[in-house]
Amino acid sequence: MAAEERSLSLSKGLDEVGVPSRRAAYGFVGTGAITRAMVEGLSAADPAPEIVVSPRSAAVSAGLTARFGNVRVAADNQAVVDGAACVVLATRPDDARTVLADLTFGEDQVVVSVVAGLSVAELTGAVAPAHEVARAIPLPSVAARQGLVPVFPPQPAALAMFRELGAVVALDDETAFDSFSAASAFAATQLDLLATVEAWLVGRGVPAPDASAYVRELIRGLSDALAEEPDRELALLASDHATPGGLNEQVRTYVRAHGVHELVATALDDVARRVAAAH
Ligand SMILES: NC(=O)c1ccc[n+]([C@@H]2O[C@H](COP(=O)([O-])OP(=O)(O)OC[C@H]3O[C@@H](n4cnc5c(N)ncnc54)[C@H](OP(=O)(O)O)[C@@H]3O)[C@@H](O)[C@H]2O)c1
Repeated sequence: MAAEERSLSLSKGLDEVGVPSRRAAYGFVGTGAITRAMVEGLSAADPAPEIVVSPRSAAVSAGLTARFGNVRVAADNQAVVDGAACVVLATRPDDARTVLADLTFGEDQVVVSVVAGLSVAELTGAVAPAHEVARAIPLPSVAARQGLVPVFPPQPAALAMFRELGAVVALDDETAFDSFSAASAFAATQLDLLATVEAWLVGRGVPAPDASAYVRELIRGLSDALAEEPDRELALLASDHATPGGLNEQVRTYVRAHGVHELVATALDDVARRVAAAH
């Protein structure tokens, strides 16, 4: 048997018993929604990096290995850590500390946490002797290699990974990072407001599919405007969409006069306080 064939069959044998024959580029502990998005985005690179994921959620991890030849499932969380150069922690916040307490890291590993509220100080304490750590806030759009991911501190391997997934904001200040965390919490409210417009249309007798299509088209047009004029201030873009004396201006003025904008800022302040209090 040729040497190359022997090493391939040895490698296959080790994988089958859950022992990685060599380190993957990335390992994910916690295989849920955001891991799926990151693995999809990373796997679209050419060549795709080797990735190892933890078994839970079984449906997600099995789905990823079925779709991507560069992805394999480890036997457990420690096997992910042992099998990857850069480990991404992506469990839910309530599980993160327990999960970390059971893991042993190597000195040369990079650990990137996407867990909300887990500070760099706490992460560093939990993963020692590993000392290269970073936090990041990826959004689901990383699946399509789009988006802007805040990263703190600007650890080189973390920056390189997220640059593969879109663009990054490299931060050297954790308070700024926490502010981005708070701002990211506006997404669901924005969709909720759009759902309000959709429901209002339906309430006036518009068929639901037409109402939904119209609101989606409205927001798609706004997204295009944002992409076409990346340097224009958002407040000015809003004015561009509010002809003086027109219908948009009427709604904007009414909503602002009733304090909605101030409520949004207050809600973000509260989230920022909650994020800061978590560490
Ligand atoms: N979703 C986003 O857009 C987003 C964006 C930025 C950051 N984040 C952060 O990313 C983290 C994950 O969010 P998510 O939306 O991906 O949550 P999710 O879909 O609920 O995924 C969490 C995953 O962790 C698994 N898990 C639970 N306990 C575990 C353990 N002991 N060991 C290994 N895996 C375990 C869960 O498996 P089971 O289903 O079997 O319990 C689940 O697959 C959160 O901390 C969140 O703050 C999320």
